[in-house]
Amino acid sequence: MMNSIIKNVCCIGAGYVGGPTMTVMAHKCPDLIFNVVDISKERIDSWNNKNLSKLPIFEPGLKELIKKTRNINLFFSTNIEKAIETADIVFISVNTPTKTKGFGSGKASDLKWVEASARQVAKYSKGHTIVVEKSTLPVRTAEVIQDILKSSMSESHRKGVSFNVLSNPEFLAEGTAINDLENPDRILIGGDNKDAMLALSKIYKTWVHEDKILFTNIWSSELAKLTANAFLAQRISSINSIAAICEVTGADVREVSRAIGKDTRIGSKFLDSSPGFGGSCFKKDILNLVYLAEYFGLQEVADFWESVVKINNWHQNRISKLVVKKLFGTVSEKKIVILGFSFKANTNDTRESAAIQICKDLINEGAEIIIHDPKVNPAQIEYDLNGNQSQNNKEKAQQKLLSGYGSWKFSKNLNIFDGCHAVLLLTEWSEYKNINWYEVAKKMVRPGWVFDSRSIIDPISIKNANLNFWRVGDGSDEENINF
Ligand code: NAD
Ligand code: UGA
Repeated sequence: MMNSIIKNVCCIGAGYVGGPTMTVMAHKCPDLIFNVVDISKERIDSWNNKNLSKLPIFEPGLKELIKKTRNINLFFSTNIEKAIETADIVFISVNTPTKTKGFGSGKASDLKWVEASARQVAKYSKGHTIVVEKSTLPVRTAEVIQDILKSSMSESHRKGVSFNVLSNPEFLAEGTAINDLENPDRILIGGDNKDAMLALSKIYKTWVHEDKILFTNIWSSELAKLTANAFLAQRISSINSIAAICEVTGADVREVSRAIGKDTRIGSKFLDSSPGFGGSCFKKDILNLVYLAEYFGLQEVADFWESVVKINNWHQNRISKLVVKKLFGTVSEKKIVILGFSFKANTNDTRESAAIQICKDLINEGAEIIIHDPKVNPAQIEYDLNGNQSQNNKEKAQQKLLSGYGSWKFSKNLNIFDGCHAVLLLTEWSEYKNINWYEVAKKMVRPGWVFDSRSIIDPISIKNANLNFWRVGDGSDEENINF
């Protein structure tokens, strides 16, 4: 029979979601024990590193909370069996990337890690366990998890085990994860068992007002998560498409954003034009929706959502083309400084970062690029640009020729402007707002170009430094106006 009193929590997956989510829960619920487990020993070792600047994830406010909870009521380990065995509730927070092979390749989510997690729960759990989908999943995945768990209940040696499956998608954004978890807009709990839903909501009620806790059926909860990401990504593709129109008509996308954002029906958030959205989820979740629509024969719906991803790819591509065009049609052997490699500021995550494709394009055009990022590890850049998985070979990661053509180097500091032809800002790290462009200009090859894909550089400081300037969605450059 079900026991809805929760004392022990297990989270399978110690990534960008599992780690911060359980840390905040452990901080808010000191009476509960949280065991976060992962198959990656390297990741768990980093979570347990005494040096808090070596945690596997950089997230503002995270290390302060880890300091208060780790080895008190929050434990990171690879002992998956024990953590599941003792758990009253198991959160599945494993990765769900887009499939790269087989049926649905390129669109459907690869559920092999979710299935493996469900099988682990089916094998090791004792008594009654609430199983929570925290990962973002295709609609009706809960059915698959339920089937796996049910089949284990019928095994003779598993008598007395029982399960409830809930959907509780995570809406945190990287870079603001701690604040998002502490002050969520809503907590969504989908399921069909009231006791289990209430038991889960009780954890959240420790710090979230009950008005913000929404109960839905399980399929609505799964679909709402995909829909939220699709709507957010759609806004970015919309504003980036308008930025391109601004550049050729003399309009300014910042003014357009401000003007439309004042309409309370539209709202002002997520209207910042950029080099295109990155991150591990927007593209994968939209493609998942596209797959779902195609599967059910809704081709027009699939086409509508796929266009959001297409515009994003086109927009990233147009930025690298534009840099080449402005530099007299060739970047061969020209030094170009890249400011920022993560997909947004305040995270070390580079997954699907616009910087990856843009840097690859410039290297393929023969540029010698120097990349600076305050938090991204050069070994990660090596992996992103060259597909080299060796995380140890730092020497190699410092400089690597790609396709025998251009090259890239990484720099930890900003003394990198000597002899460069252009600077391309790709991530909105706050330290880039304080660059002294007058001093930088003295070091650059003339005519020097600054490209700002995030609108954080003051155009006047660039003008005073006598540099050429391109800013996303800025139509003030007469040369581009096509009338
Ligand atoms: P991640 O890749 O950072 O972490 C997933 C972890 O799960 C990895 O460390 C991996 O080793 C581990 N893992 C995989 N299979 C396992 C198994 N069988 N047993 C134990 N550990 C296992 O991924 P993430 O960014 O944390 O995302 C996880 C899920 O949350 C995804 O579905 C994602 O769509 C969703 N999500 C992510 C974010 C975000 O900001 N990153 C936000 C909301 C939702
Ligand atoms: C996004 C959602 O915001 C979260 O709610 C969701 O939980 C998460 O995806 C997920 O499911 O993984 P995240 O990708 O971490 O969070 O970060 P965002 O702040 O949404 O930014 C995504 C991308 O959009 C970044 O590249 C960012 O630079 C870009 N962006 C964002 C813009 O280009 N313009 C904007 O106005 C806002």
